[in-house]
Amino acid sequence: ALAVIAPQDLAGLRVVVSTGGTREPLDPVRFLGNRSSGRQGTALARAAADRGAAVTLVAAHTDAGVLDEAGTIPMRRVGTAAELQAAMVDAAADADVIVMAAAVADYRPASVSDGKLSKDAVSGHARTLELVETEDVLAGLVRARREGQTIVGFAAETAADDADLLDRGRRKHARKGTDLLVVNRVGWTGGFEASENTVVVLGRAGAVVAEASGTKRQVADAVWDAVRGARG
Ligand code: CTP
Ligand code: CA
Repeated sequence: ALAVIAPQDLAGLRVVVSTGGTREPLDPVRFLGNRSSGRQGTALARAAADRGAAVTLVAAHTDAGVLDEAGTIPMRRVGTAAELQAAMVDAAADADVIVMAAAVADYRPASVSDGKLSKDAVSGHARTLELVETEDVLAGLVRARREGQTIVGFAAETAADDADLLDRGRRKHARKGTDLLVVNRVGWTGGFEASENTVVVLGRAGAVVAEASGTKRQVADAVWDAVRGARG
């Protein structure tokens, strides 16, 4: 029913959205991951499709059932940050708008063991994992940005208060070179796994161009309104 009543104000736009959390393998049975549920990214993809955009969803790990919301949206499943990068670079080639809502691992284990790691060798001692940085997918997309392409980043920050949150968001926005940055506050509770979300959207020069609080769908619609505003 939503698809029928939504305004088709994104018709003609080709959109790619990433969602979920990447997982970096350590051995055949273990990985480094994060708590992203994939709900906000999936809601962004659903909202864009309902508003008439041609959407591709690049999905890393999500909570059970979350991707059901995507319905018939074309989807590419990925595991690691490297896989997500390959899928995004590919999908970005003919995209008008790129939304990086995925929680991408910043580090991966320096080596992946072919066999299951055993504690025999280090039992009774601390074990040290060597980690190396992953590629910054968003930074690469920004470097390769084409004329007319709008790139939206996300920043989940633990902040002391609203001023601190805005400050961190503005610094990240400037560093990343994104057109829009969607900033939200996370902690041990709220944000990642919650069904409601509160965000501030920063535009060029760090101005607040939107604030939204509500369901992840309501937040998604506010982000798309901001994208329309940024594209003029
Ligand atoms: N991102 C990415 N590739 C990475 C890490 C992050 O594309 N290897 C993207 C995320 O999808 C998000 C944005 O960059 O859209 C900001 O992610 P965030 O983790 O907040 O920022 P980082 O630059 O990784 O900095 P830090 O984690 O130190 O705050
Ligand atoms: Ca990070």
